[in-house]
Amino acid sequence: MRAIQVKEFGGPEVLVPADLPDPVPGPGEVLIEVSFVDTIFVETQIRAGGVRDHFTVTPPYVPGGGVSGTVAALGPDVPGEWLGRRVASFVQGGYASRAVAATDALTVVPDTLDLLPAAALVHDGVTATGLVELTSVTSADRVLILGASGGMGTLLVQLAARARGAHVVALARGAEKLALVRELGASAAVDLTAADWPSRARAALGGAADVVLDGVGGEPGATAFALTADGGRFSAHGAPTGGFATVDTQEAHRRDVRLLGIADVQFPAPDIQRLRAHASQEAAAGRLRPVVGAVFPLEEASAAHAAVEGRHLTGKVVLRV
Ligand SMILES: NC(=O)c1ccc[n+]([C@@H]2O[C@H](COP(=O)([O-])OP(=O)(O)OC[C@H]3O[C@@H](n4cnc5c(N)ncnc54)[C@H](OP(=O)(O)O)[C@@H]3O)[C@@H](O)[C@H]2O)c1
Repeated sequence: MRAIQVKEFGGPEVLVPADLPDPVPGPGEVLIEVSFVDTIFVETQIRAGGVRDHFTVTPPYVPGGGVSGTVAALGPDVPGEWLGRRVASFVQGGYASRAVAATDALTVVPDTLDLLPAAALVHDGVTATGLVELTSVTSADRVLILGASGGMGTLLVQLAARARGAHVVALARGAEKLALVRELGASAAVDLTAADWPSRARAALGGAADVVLDGVGGEPGATAFALTADGGRFSAHGAPTGGFATVDTQEAHRRDVRLLGIADVQFPAPDIQRLRAHASQEAAAGRLRPVVGAVFPLEEASAAHAAVEGRHLTGKVVLRV
């Protein structure tokens, strides 16, 4: 099969095409003929060798975890009805033309949803739907979203503003991204590069935020913690700045702010299935729009990673196999 390997830790150029043996589905597993693979920000950080404390993978390895495609072969004990089904799943080594997954990890893609948006939802649909659930967003809430123009952020804006009816203030960078997040339902969009973004965000919120969804971390995340209302919820689940937001836990306790972090979005398997199925059904019904900023051929995975790191694109970067 065709695949992309990380041959050593480094820049996007270390992603190189390779011919590898087809994976063989074991008991309870299927072989997926992959159509699309998502890219997620942390894959660029793992490839660069920057997060080795948390991810133990060593080169050479095939990156990628979220695929959509068609079931092409069955392992022992798998019911024949799976053959030919359009599915989406987490897998190991997804930057490849074939991958295996256990049947209980498969999401059947609704008939009216294309495999491209289905791939865009494999990770982001789970995390975004789960985050809105975990933080119990309601129409009474003022919600501040950092990293709103990214793959997950664009879903969070829609889920908080449209599905839950919250007053959403979205933080993004540049006119095009600000316009997009407004179009997706944010009541206001504030440019994170403006020195006075905290006061602009506070004005747009009409005070402090009941819920902060921080997908960028670092200094902006720490500043956003100060914008969280007493009794509010603060989720530090993102670190494209290089680190998760560090907050004073004693202050959080004193102000009765509920803190959530990356561990809270590592959902158990049954929840993953439920959340992905829900996101897929919402997208199939036209109520949730996965924003795909660019599609690269699998062989150009290095260009895809460069695009994610270059921060020029909005939404999700997906690979076409
Ligand atoms: N996707 C998931 O399911 C998932 C699950 C758990 C955790 N996370 C974490 O959530 C974060 C976002 O993930 P994603 O998949 O949505 O990534 P993404 O689609 O690549 O989006 C990244 C977002 O972060 C912003 N950003 C990038 N570098 C930045 C910087 N230096 N300073 C401020 N903002 C920056 C980007 O905004 P600009 O375009 O304006 O730069 C963009 O909105 C990542 O840290 C990821 O590890 C994601």
